[in-house]
Amino acid sequence: MKGLKLRVKPREKKEFKMIPKKKNDSQNLQQVLDRLKPELCQLASVDAQMKYIVERFQLGENEKKGRSLLVQLLQEVFVEFFPDSQILPFGSSVNTFGIHSCDLDLFLDLENTKVFQARAKSATEQAGEGTSDDGRSEDSILSDIDLTTASPAEVLDLVATILKRCVPSVHKVHVVSSARLPVVKFHHRELNLQGDITINNRLAVRNTRFLQLCSGMEDRLRPLVYTIRYWAKQKQLAGNPSGAGPLLNNYALTLLIIFYLQNCEPSVLPTVDHLKDMACEEEECVIEGWDCTFPSQPIAVPPSKNTQDLCTLLSGFFSFYAKFDFASSVISVREGRALPITDFLQEEQPSKTPHHSPKLGPLNLLDPFELSHNVAGNLNERSHRCFQKECQEAQKYCRSLQYQCKSTKGKSWGLVRLFTPHGEVPHTKTEQLTISIPFKSASLPEELRNQLHMAGDGFRLLWFQKVCAAVEGVLKSVLRCHLAPSTDVVFGEDSAVNAADEMETPSASLNTSADDSINSVDSQNEASPLGTAVVGAKRRLSSGSDASVSPQGKKPRMAKRGNFPHWVCVQKHIVWAGRRKVRRELIKDADSRPEGSCMEMESQVTAHIIEKEPALKEPLKFKVQPQMVGGTESTRAVLKLEPTTDSAGVFHDFFHFLEVFLPKMVETLLGKEAGTV
Ligand code: UTP
Repeated sequence: MKGLKLRVKPREKKEFKMIPKKKNDSQNLQQVLDRLKPELCQLASVDAQMKYIVERFQLGENEKKGRSLLVQLLQEVFVEFFPDSQILPFGSSVNTFGIHSCDLDLFLDLENTKVFQARAKSATEQAGEGTSDDGRSEDSILSDIDLTTASPAEVLDLVATILKRCVPSVHKVHVVSSARLPVVKFHHRELNLQGDITINNRLAVRNTRFLQLCSGMEDRLRPLVYTIRYWAKQKQLAGNPSGAGPLLNNYALTLLIIFYLQNCEPSVLPTVDHLKDMACEEEECVIEGWDCTFPSQPIAVPPSKNTQDLCTLLSGFFSFYAKFDFASSVISVREGRALPITDFLQEEQPSKTPHHSPKLGPLNLLDPFELSHNVAGNLNERSHRCFQKECQEAQKYCRSLQYQCKSTKGKSWGLVRLFTPHGEVPHTKTEQLTISIPFKSASLPEELRNQLHMAGDGFRLLWFQKVCAAVEGVLKSVLRCHLAPSTDVVFGEDSAVNAADEMETPSASLNTSADDSINSVDSQNEASPLGTAVVGAKRRLSSGSDASVSPQGKKPRMAKRGNFPHWVCVQKHIVWAGRRKVRRELIKDADSRPEGSCMEMESQVTAHIIEKEPALKEPLKFKVQPQMVGGTESTRAVLKLEPTTDSAGVFHDFFHFLEVFLPKMVETLLGKEAGTV
């Protein structure tokens, strides 16, 4: 193919074998919960339940002892091969949040070994070949490798060999060099313990000290962390079994809890910047250029003035994240506030800072020390959406009496119902007719990112305008909907205000400012209804309220009116059915193969369907009302769809098609370079 050879293997016929399923993770979780339920239900309060969760799951003294003996043994072995090296535990085994089965994270510190090696090398050179200054033979393992130039994977291969050959009871040793931080994994048979050894991970040891400090400063942190970690596990929101995956890791979840506690009123925990101010000179600490200074003892930090109980703090956590605007924020535990995402959208300026900017995603949570690391950078849209939805569900539940009061009839109450897994939260009826287009900072093109950066606080409106124009382009030019101007009042308590002359509607303003790619869409319909029709608003939205903010909220003139434009769409053909087949045919046929963009291709698919398939007896009519959500919720454009004439009963089919197609096309349009659509 195009000069490349492609080897094709003949199809193999394999017998289908029934393999009995192993007891899976969720069955185990369910069993643990079944045992936990009666114990929790008989306790007197949610606070007591939370403390019980800690007792039930925390590492026991014997477990801690076993781990510490293994660390000691590893230290003795490694120092033989890597003189002056140190093996340091970090993570859940020592951060005060460990649970029975948690893994043992270890950092092999080879800094002193490098010094040793350099000294030995120069001594050998001076004394002639054969022996080093301390008499060790040059055929020691260190002579095989130069630690200053070796790659982490090479060093870890050596570590793996030592583990396999010299540490009793250790098996299943393998190196994972593709991880962000390459790691050697092993299992200890007697302790039934999974271990990870990394090098170049000094920051993790320091952030573990930070977590220890936080739990030493604030007694309420451990019950909160154990409870929320257990909740997140039950809801499959956190914990990636193989290390990599799209879910939150426990470290990120703990930082989310700390950030929430920093933002309680009054705050439960201080910001990392405040902690730095409380440290003395000897506690100053810089690792890889990052300031990691904080007091070594909790006593140095004044106690919090916040007196809320655990039950209130837990429900507060869910409310906080249920309405948190993740899309437009970068969470900074360092500063204890959400930083505007626009600060991170600008093109990187290498001269400004030696560190790169964090990888942005649907949830942006900066490490408190390594400020270029988004600890939730692995999350995908789905896992982020699930996290927020589960917070919303939990928030609702926490408002009920079942959460706060013990059942006198022996029914499940308090944490028990919170922990009950139910998979993804079902959509509510109204949600079924809305299409959500999330603000995805990471997938925007450089130029638009810069524009949004320049817009500062007004970035939502600018983005929303672009989305509206793209939606209009897709409906009109790709799907050939007839967009009729509307004159009625939609979703409104307010009277219709025909303010077309005064009001700057998304599409009207876009016509003067939007990118060419969207304006270049060749409309075959009337002039934009957004430019001519103005309708009533669903609700008045004032900025600063707890409600979603309208894009107009950022523009005083529009905020006063609180009006939203909307489209009335007419579709005469079933343009959503059989698209894949048509697309496949078009691509096969070299002559009709469209040049260029996806938008052109999709328009051709529609044209093909319209030409070949019969029209609907009576056209489908529906309204589309765009709304901007953000400020106190995740920034997104929400399109509310409502059928007005649907005698053929096809609206739901079209809606389900649009639900997937529209956000994808809008993303493509926004992501396109100007002029190529
Ligand atoms: P984990 O997410 O595994 O947390 O990160 P944990 O508390 O040990 O929970 P388990 O192991 O799932 O029970 C382990 C440690 O790795 C470092 C932190 O020190 C954390 O405590 N880490 C993790 C980072 O420094 N950055 C990250 O992005 C993730």
